[in-house]
Amino acid sequence: MIEPIEHAADILSKAQSVVALTGAGISVESGIPPFRGKGGLWEKIDPMKVAHIDAFLENPETVWKVLIKEMKHVLDKARPNPGHTGLADLERLGILKTVITQNVDGLHQMAGNSDVIEFHGNFAWQRCLDCNRSIETSRVDLGQMPPRCGCGGILRPDCIFFGEMIPHQALIRSQQVSADCDVMLVIGTSAVVQPAATMPFIAKDNGAVIIEINPEATPLTPHISTLPLLGAAGSIMPRLMKAIRRRLASA
Ligand code: OAD
Repeated sequence: MIEPIEHAADILSKAQSVVALTGAGISVESGIPPFRGKGGLWEKIDPMKVAHIDAFLENPETVWKVLIKEMKHVLDKARPNPGHTGLADLERLGILKTVITQNVDGLHQMAGNSDVIEFHGNFAWQRCLDCNRSIETSRVDLGQMPPRCGCGGILRPDCIFFGEMIPHQALIRSQQVSADCDVMLVIGTSAVVQPAATMPFIAKDNGAVIIEINPEATPLTPHISTLPLLGAAGSIMPRLMKAIRRRLASA
C-alpha cells in the first residue's frame, strides 16, 4: 500500500489549485499554545469570561491583563516553524494559492506566504474604540491598563472576540477559494469553530480532495478528510515537501 505521505505528495504535485486552512495547531511548535485539548488556553481560562466581546466591553482592564497582554508576550517571541515554512515553499513551487488561517499570529506571512486570509483578524494592530484609529501592537504602552489611544479611547486588538462577526471580505473570499480549489490542506485545527469549520465541507462538496494534518482525529477525519496524515505539522510538512520535490524533479 502506498504510504499516506507519498499519496498526498502525488495528489499535491498534480493539483491545479490548492488552498490551506490552518488553525492553532500549526503554531504550537512555534511556542504558541492551542485553545483546546491538553495544555490549551481554554483549559486555564474561560473564553466566555475573557474572550467574548461583552466581557471585553464590560471589563477591558481584566481582559487586557489576563488575555491580551499574555498573548502579546507569547506572540512577540514566536517565529515560523517547519509547518509554516513548508506552506511558504508550497506557494513558491506554484502549488499553493491561498492560506485561510484562523490564527492571528502573522506567522504565515512571516514565513513567506503572500495570499493569507486572516479569518479571525490579526493581532499585529490595535484599534481605538472611540476614534477607530489603528496603532501597531508593538507600539502600545503596556504601562497603563487598559492601554489607550492618544484620544483617550480604549484600544482593542484587531482580531475578533467571540460574539463578533467574521470580517466580511475574509468570509466571502474564504468561501470562494474553498469552492474553487481542487485540494484543501487542513492543518492544525480542531474544526469545531464555525464558520471556519465549514470551509472543508464547501471544498469537499465542490469535488476537492481534503488532506488533513493533525496529531489527533477531528470531526472531519472520518467523513470529510480524504487523506488524514496523523502527526505534528512541523514533522509532516518537511516530509511532504521532500516527497513533492522528488516528484517535481523527476517529472
Ligand atoms: P484548537 O485549539 O481548537 O485546535 C488545535 C488543533 O491543533 C487540535 O486539533 C490539535 O490536535 C492540533 N494540534 C496540536 N498540535 C499540533 C501540531 N504540532 N501540528 C498540527 N496540529 C496540532 O484551535 P483552532 O481549531 O484554531 O477563535 O481553534 C479555532 C478557534 O477557536 C480559534 O481561532 C479561536 C478559538 O477560540 C477565536 O479566538 C475567535
